[in-house]
Amino acid sequence: MKKGKGDRIYIFDTTLRDGEQSPGASMNPDEKMRIARQLEAMGVDIIEAGFPVASEGDFASVRQIAREIRGAQIAGLARANIEDIDRAWEAIADAANPRIHTFISTSDIHLKYQLRKTREEVMEDARKAVAHACKYTKNVEFSAMDATRTDRDYLCRMVEAAIEEGATTVNIPDTVGYTIPEEYGRLIAYLFEKVKNIHQAIISVHCHNDLGLAVANSLAAVLNGARQVECTINGIGERAGNTAMEEIVMAIETRRDLFGVHTGIKTEKIYQTSKLLTQITGIPVQPNKAIVGANAFAHESGIHQDGLIKEKSTYEIMRPESVGISETQIVLGKHSGRHAVSEHLKKMGYKHSQEDLNKVFVRFKELADIKKEIFDEDLEAILYEEVFRVKDKFKLVYLTVVSGNVAIPTATMQLQVDQEIIQDAGFGVGPVDATFAAIRKITKTDYPLVRFAVDAITKGADAQGEATVQLRYNGYSVVGRGSHNDILVASAMAYINALNRLEWLKGNIRKVRLVD
Ligand code: KIV
Ligand code: ZN
Repeated sequence: MKKGKGDRIYIFDTTLRDGEQSPGASMNPDEKMRIARQLEAMGVDIIEAGFPVASEGDFASVRQIAREIRGAQIAGLARANIEDIDRAWEAIADAANPRIHTFISTSDIHLKYQLRKTREEVMEDARKAVAHACKYTKNVEFSAMDATRTDRDYLCRMVEAAIEEGATTVNIPDTVGYTIPEEYGRLIAYLFEKVKNIHQAIISVHCHNDLGLAVANSLAAVLNGARQVECTINGIGERAGNTAMEEIVMAIETRRDLFGVHTGIKTEKIYQTSKLLTQITGIPVQPNKAIVGANAFAHESGIHQDGLIKEKSTYEIMRPESVGISETQIVLGKHSGRHAVSEHLKKMGYKHSQEDLNKVFVRFKELADIKKEIFDEDLEAILYEEVFRVKDKFKLVYLTVVSGNVAIPTATMQLQVDQEIIQDAGFGVGPVDATFAAIRKITKTDYPLVRFAVDAITKGADAQGEATVQLRYNGYSVVGRGSHNDILVASAMAYINALNRLEWLKGNIRKVRLVD
């Protein structure tokens, strides 16, 4: 392993910034804080907390994360202009180790059609931006946006200029997911060959997954000297997403023989982090997704099973435990007390206050009355509903649904809207349609429904149902989730959760986009 600085790969997580640009992935400040704590606990080196100039909401949550997280560097994104950089610094200044991440497009396509500037003008903007950021901190990252479609020699000059002005990390993004591993590896090698001051900075990579190559491209870059990888949990992000953290980390770990480098990630926290993000955003992970998909460690073939019984390494390249997956266990039941629930939550990695425990315990008892066995997943769903959930404008009080092959499906419902209780009924072609109609009537809303799905959280006919509802508003989309042993109640809760998230979003619409 040559070129880069040492054998340590820095993990820069952008779940809260690029990841949040996924359709439907917007998170409120409490949810972002929760993710940031989890990223800190898993040993992420740099957390990109958001884009402070984008909205008051972004600014506030970046500032909160900067003030509360002490175990990771906190980065704030800024375009290459004074106002963005000042605002980013204002948000992150209180962090234990703040980083300003400033960027500008460098490809001719972006220069001509978007920025309408010459190469020299953009070079000057980049220099000024880095120099300005360096007045606040030595920890400055510069990104040459659309680097993989940028003229190579101009890119070399740009990287050199950014380092000259004081950037300590320089990022070479594949913004549109266009490159392939061999080409990207060669680009990184070329930079190491041609940029004379390159060893004064860490070279970072940021790959999008439009061709399904984000992880492979990042690995090729690592082989050629890159020492920071930008990634997101579950690979969420703009369009097809970003490099998935769990995949890049486990590839480096599993093939240490080949890469000869390591990260500081506590891999046993990977699965829990993935689940937390899914709970918060409602964006599911496909079953065959590497590392964290439901089937990632499931062996169906008889030959494979036979091999595994004889010797695990016959068909297993990673142990499920190494990413925090253990056999699903029946953990608790009707007779389990508050102490047992508390201990179990701690074992699952959730620190909780007494107040949180009280809320979880009430729901746990209700569920244990109707469901014999309570699994980890059930507890997680309760925890999310009762503790991590966005503060609600709308709350379900009561729901009765009449349905069948001779009845007109009818849902009678009471909702608490702010402090008022409102009751009404809705009809539909089926019980879910009737339930949603009742909600729309009471809340006087009618947002297009983009997606509705119900899954069983655990096995068995008495499993809790977990419903997901995605609504669209003004070019944005929000996802709501609800879990209950009655799937109609779960569906109503998911719809209401989406409405509550939408209420929050309306007050926090972004003023600027990355490319303005
Ligand atoms: O994809 C990209 O180029 C980005 C930059 C802001 C780093 O997200
Ligand atoms: Zn990106």
